[in-house]
Amino acid sequence: MNWKIEDKEYKKEKIEFIGNKMCIGNGYFGYRGTLEEYGKEQLVACTVSEIFDDNGNGWREPVNVPNGLYTWVEYEEKKLSVLETKIEKHVQELHFDTGIHRRKTVFSTEDGQRITVEAERFASLEDIHLLVMRYQVTADKDLDIKIHTGIDDDIWNINGNHFKNKEYIEKDGVTGMICKTIENTANIAVAEKKQALSPEGKTENLKNGSVIHVKLKKSVPYVMEKYIAICKETDCTDVWEAAVNCCQQAEQKGYDRLKAKQKALWGKRYEKLGIEIEGDEEAEKAVLYSAYLLYSSAPEHTDRVAIPARGLSGQVYKGAMFWDTEIYMLPMFAFCDPKIARNLVMYRVKNLQGAYEKASEYGYEGAFYPWESQETGRDGCTHYNLTDIFTGRKMRTYFRDKQIHISADVVYGLWKYMNVTKDNSILKEGAAEVILECARFFWSYAYYKKGKEQYEFLDVTGADEYHERVNNDAYTNYMIRLTAKATLDVISYLKSKEPEMYKKVMDKLDYWKEEENIRDLYEKIYLPKPNDSLVIEQFDGYLKEEDLSIQELYSRIIKPNEYLGSPCGLAVNTQIIKQADVILLLSLLGSDFTDEVKEKNWSYYEPRTEHGSSLSTCIYALLAAQIGKTEWAYQYLMKAAQIDLTGDYKLYLGDLYIGGTHPAANGGTWMVLTQGFAGLEAEEDGVHFSPHLPEKWRKLKFRFNYGGSRYRVEITKDILKIIGEDAAKELRVTYMGNIYTCSAGSTLKIQMENREGK
Ligand code: BGC
Repeated sequence: MNWKIEDKEYKKEKIEFIGNKMCIGNGYFGYRGTLEEYGKEQLVACTVSEIFDDNGNGWREPVNVPNGLYTWVEYEEKKLSVLETKIEKHVQELHFDTGIHRRKTVFSTEDGQRITVEAERFASLEDIHLLVMRYQVTADKDLDIKIHTGIDDDIWNINGNHFKNKEYIEKDGVTGMICKTIENTANIAVAEKKQALSPEGKTENLKNGSVIHVKLKKSVPYVMEKYIAICKETDCTDVWEAAVNCCQQAEQKGYDRLKAKQKALWGKRYEKLGIEIEGDEEAEKAVLYSAYLLYSSAPEHTDRVAIPARGLSGQVYKGAMFWDTEIYMLPMFAFCDPKIARNLVMYRVKNLQGAYEKASEYGYEGAFYPWESQETGRDGCTHYNLTDIFTGRKMRTYFRDKQIHISADVVYGLWKYMNVTKDNSILKEGAAEVILECARFFWSYAYYKKGKEQYEFLDVTGADEYHERVNNDAYTNYMIRLTAKATLDVISYLKSKEPEMYKKVMDKLDYWKEEENIRDLYEKIYLPKPNDSLVIEQFDGYLKEEDLSIQELYSRIIKPNEYLGSPCGLAVNTQIIKQADVILLLSLLGSDFTDEVKEKNWSYYEPRTEHGSSLSTCIYALLAAQIGKTEWAYQYLMKAAQIDLTGDYKLYLGDLYIGGTHPAANGGTWMVLTQGFAGLEAEEDGVHFSPHLPEKWRKLKFRFNYGGSRYRVEITKDILKIIGEDAAKELRVTYMGNIYTCSAGSTLKIQMENREGK
């Protein structure tokens, strides 16, 4: 397969899009796919995780640090830049098998010289503090040029400057700066060490960079390497010392060794996924590229953060972590890279305090998790989160206070993690408290409807954000029931397996009486059921709203980017929904519903879904694949998998910029492949498969972990093969109601009946 994403023409209008598409990252920082000569107007950003700042100008956002890659060539007192200079040839590439970004530009100067700039960079996985670049200039005549290189501290920020001061330092040939954030005076050092390979140039040192005077010889390249360290106080005691060490060690190892290691480490990641799609290279490439993007933002090194809604491609959405993590991103890691999955779930566990505070702020008990969670676990979302583009006034939105499903999503994540990995140790580390406290929150929110003798959830917002403050959103109610069930299960598990801990937790949380309340909630929660046409109403009264086509709705739009949701957006009183809601419920909690119900709902909601969120198409693909609607599933899979390749996504919500990469869609893509087309699901004791492959796929291969053992799967139209690669135990496999076992180290081969899709 061709692991290269390529763009062969420079166009100003594409700078923002390519910046996302060719982003590199290692979970510690992300670096947008911009060119070395670019500045803040071209949205250059090196966005770090874990450090957020509020400078009083807007909302808290993650910090973009000074740009250590900043480098450009001067010839005859002019800057060579794709923005200004004539270009003969230009190519920008991302090699996503290794996370290496490359560019090559042949500039044609005013006096007719051809000067070629080539650069290569990567965000090291070996040392996550390290960004590496090799930069090379060649001319087809002897020429005098100057290379300007340094650390550009004039940074792109959505909400203005985040550093109250910057201290410029030099030590042992390493130059750089320590920046202190405004809100918390957090220290971040950015340092660089340059190494010119050939020929030597005379160097003039400036405050935060240098100018190298080079006498280029015809066709002999000038080559320079830069080792850039980014060190934050979250994991370095002395950020400057750490940065100097990082640069020096990198220089000692040298570029080629670092690059070889980079290839090996990314290779290991893809090995864990083991994805191959025989018969469809286009889909295979899109799926693997999606996995690349998701992995690039994944915190392998820490559980202090999870994965932001736009990864590390910038400050959009306040760099916040949403339910996107648990519902869309976690499954891939739970099944393929449990260490990262553990970090993601432990991030929520460690931030229980923020959830307590939010519940009490609104007068509830227990844990109400933030809609937009940052490093403190407090909610970054405001009540006036959007601006009305007609009046310029702030609009009251209810994302923060009414999307109560977030606490259930957090529980779902913990439950999913334990179900797949069988790592119950997280219960001892605080996960038990999280589950119990989320259930307590729902208990305190519930409304007991006398006469009907049921618990209802009123005034909530479900997954579909166009309909706020509704009653009994189906997705929310079912997920609350799951929370109640998880709570009862955890209590009974602790009681029988960990009696000491059981007592400790029940005492600490004063939960002795609560258990009965949660049981009552579990037994009497109102769960919207399929109606006579088998459709589950998304919320009370949804089916009475105006029923129109999306085209008809669009014809009513007055201004581009006008917000379609609450309080008075065009979709509010209609059945047009923003994103998968009932369909999400059916795909996540599938065993509660028949295929017929799933099919009827898919067909009902699909034409009414605007996919105004990148979290939507993957779920339509997932459910379609699960019920064998393979052609539809395939179309939706490709939309989800290619979202960051095609740029087919919304850039604005009202006047709010929401561009960037889409990790939820990336994670959703993995779900479609494995939990959709292969029908993989983790059960209490083993796994379930129910494959339906798209017509043109000859074979689907992937790997997954279950209960600490790793398996390889190969599916053709008629054979399902599971290979226990490093399995320590027997695996129970169910397929079409039959039970099989895959013994440790051996291959299970199941002859499937005709699984042709519809
Ligand atoms: C979606 C939410 C999502 C958020 C961040 C919104 O547009 O409607 O469901 O959590 O984006 O991705």
